[in-house]
Amino acid sequence: MNKKTRILVIHGPNLNMLGRREPTWYGSATLEEIDAEIRETAEEVGMIAETFQSNHEGAIIEKIHQAIETCDAVIINPAAYTHTSVAIRDALLMLDIPIVEVHLSNIYQRETFRHRSFVSDVATARVAGFGKDGYLMAVRALSQMVARRTNVDG
Ligand code: DQA
Repeated sequence: MNKKTRILVIHGPNLNMLGRREPTWYGSATLEEIDAEIRETAEEVGMIAETFQSNHEGAIIEKIHQAIETCDAVIINPAAYTHTSVAIRDALLMLDIPIVEVHLSNIYQRETFRHRSFVSDVATARVAGFGKDGYLMAVRALSQMVARRTNVDG
């Protein structure tokens, strides 16, 4: 029997404040609620999701390092680090697994400084503007992508 696909979901700074933080952009669900939905959706499609949030760039980078050995795919919302962090970009470059960049808001409807992402061209795909559903869409899409990869590779 195949071992279950493991997805790591990383949330960047200030996302622990979801529910209270600018609900017009980010919705009213808390991160706890979103993480529970992510884990349920992953289970539905036969995968295991680990969720992680940090307000610290170094902690996010160390988590990405761990994923090199332990995960089959990564979903990351780097939050404000999207627009600033060469270090997170460099860490993601070490991964040889699918990476999905997720944003709750459509960053292109917002200030110009949010239009630049250091992650997009390193990521396999990006979802933005669907609110929390973006994470769930990414989980489902990744399950198909990883299954196809596994079939191709034997
Ligand atoms: C965000 C968009 C970023 O510009 C912002 O700094 C965030 C959240 C989003 O999910 O829409 O913190 O990544």
